[in-house]
Amino acid sequence: MSASDTAGVASVSRRSVVQGALAVALASTVSPIALLLVEKAHAQSTAEPLTFNFAEIAAGVDANHHVAEGYEAKPLLRWGDPLFADAPAFTPDAQTANAQKRQFGANCDFIGYVPIDGSNDRGLLCVNHEYIEAYMSFPGVKRSKASVYGIGPDKTAVEMTAIGGSIVEIVRKDGAWSYVRDSKFNRRITALDTPMRIDGPAAGHARMMTAEDATGTKCIGTLGNCAGGITPWGTWLLAEENFQLYFWTDKRNDKGEPEKGLGGGQKASWAKYGVPSSRDTAGWGLHHARFNLDKEANEVNRFGWIVEVDPLDPDFVPVKRTALGRCRHEGAENALANSGQIVVYTGDDDRNQFVYKFVSKGTYKPDDRKHNRELLSDGTLYVARYDDDFTGQWLKLAPGEGKLAGDTRFPTLAEIMIDTRIAAEVLGATPMDRPEDVEPGPGGRVIVALTNNSERLPGGEDKSNPRAPNPHGHIIEMIEDGGDVGATSFRWSIVVKAGPKTGAGADWHKDTTDNGSFSCPDNVAFDPAGRLWIATDQGRGWATLTGRADGLYALDFMGANRGRSRLFFRAPVGAEVGGPRFTADGTTLFLSVQHPSADNTKDWAPFGRDSTADDPATRWPDTDPASKMPPRASVVVITRKGGGRIAV
Ligand code: FEO
Ligand code: CA
Ligand code: CA
Ligand code: CA
Repeated sequence: MSASDTAGVASVSRRSVVQGALAVALASTVSPIALLLVEKAHAQSTAEPLTFNFAEIAAGVDANHHVAEGYEAKPLLRWGDPLFADAPAFTPDAQTANAQKRQFGANCDFIGYVPIDGSNDRGLLCVNHEYIEAYMSFPGVKRSKASVYGIGPDKTAVEMTAIGGSIVEIVRKDGAWSYVRDSKFNRRITALDTPMRIDGPAAGHARMMTAEDATGTKCIGTLGNCAGGITPWGTWLLAEENFQLYFWTDKRNDKGEPEKGLGGGQKASWAKYGVPSSRDTAGWGLHHARFNLDKEANEVNRFGWIVEVDPLDPDFVPVKRTALGRCRHEGAENALANSGQIVVYTGDDDRNQFVYKFVSKGTYKPDDRKHNRELLSDGTLYVARYDDDFTGQWLKLAPGEGKLAGDTRFPTLAEIMIDTRIAAEVLGATPMDRPEDVEPGPGGRVIVALTNNSERLPGGEDKSNPRAPNPHGHIIEMIEDGGDVGATSFRWSIVVKAGPKTGAGADWHKDTTDNGSFSCPDNVAFDPAGRLWIATDQGRGWATLTGRADGLYALDFMGANRGRSRLFFRAPVGAEVGGPRFTADGTTLFLSVQHPSADNTKDWAPFGRDSTADDPATRWPDTDPASKMPPRASVVVITRKGGGRIAV
């Protein structure tokens, strides 16, 4: 057990071990019947999960991906793959927006699997396309702001259609997965031209109104779709994360960076949300007035939301659910409370930002999809405060609550939802080390991935963020009171402090090997047996942090092996791993390999320079040395050779 484990969680673990026959069955057998029981009991089970059974791979970095022996990892959907009968082949040097709208998008991240008729062999993949970097995507573009900003309107339109999301039907025949070109369900959602509805408390507010939409209830497109969630009624939630990167200003200093203090009457809001961003990576505002803050000050308020899409209804108008607040939403994983209310967890991925959850007003009705599809319209948003005694409170974000009482900035829920970060700070939420995926699992347990924090200064530590600075991140387990995700209080503990096992300050189970220790946890997934998997994203700092590629790790978080991590899959150089998703039978694992070759290939000795589309360190997934393709982010499908459940 990890030395950072606390007495509170240890006692819960012990209690769960003796809690009924299901736990005993799970501890002693891996029979199909037991696994089926676990699948049924997943949402609120207190059973001790199985540990993992596979041979750990060696950590390292090279041009390819690697998976544990006995498994196959194959690219299933690559950037540019044609989704429709009329979709042209991918031609990186002559790409058009019209072509890209008919093809799989760039930089896949979140993956949802929505089964068709409950099948583990036929379903819809719902995939987020988070962002695009011009110099990694278009031949001829250099790694400079001038080159990126100078790509012109046509390539800008390609960028705007390459991001958003894809719905793609996939099938498994004779053990092999493939996607269905021209399925009636296939759909692209883009930043350029997908109409969306704005719903909830902020809809129609004056700050949501723009020159193009005087009602404040309609907008075009979605941005920065990082992680997400699939609801119990089978809708797909896309979390808008780094939306600020796309908003342009001409007001710049000598270095070409946006001036400070912009925003007029919205100055405090812009400052809190990092608008405009000094990291702006796109010049969209040069060609589209709505992305130019000097011309349109309110469009930015229409991003930073959770977007709901029904993948089973190709005509569904995506809806921005403002009741879930506005921030750099990492994800939107969810579970049902004992009451039947839907609870959606989300982290705000920025330094010293917060962890949230939304609890719907209405309750889930298993046989009424139309009713369920509006549950995220109305409810209560909470933000987490982690106390030093390993308890915590969910603080209600509503007018008049706590220190929000009398605060004239927040007369109604609409202002709280538009400036959620400011309101949460007023309430006294705990600033965290970049909350990434926040995911509910068995027994009211919620795993929070805190990826790193370069801005936590010595003296600024607390029990829940104990390192300053924190380059490697850590993982917190919360246990909602009563094992009910609808609770307003919880206990918490740290599962692991990440970083190389031999490094200072890391904290792992003693049996975690050097290969199994990781840095910068990002995406979280539970498999059908309630076991925890962690995907990492070290960013450009990988060479200094660990010197190894990002990967997918199996992490025991309960029982005697708590804190033991093992490496199952590793990505090619410069990529991060995202979107882990299992089918309900546990036989298939989908992963995103995002931005291959992009992150700091200069520090990879065999290449020794930064990559571009023309000159990448790897053209993964292409392995043909004669290929001229740029590296393409892809969804990879992992199965066991000969079939069977993964890691059992
Ligand atoms: Fe898009 Fe926080 O990762
Ligand atoms: Ca992420
Ligand atoms: Ca997740
Ligand atoms: Ca990431």
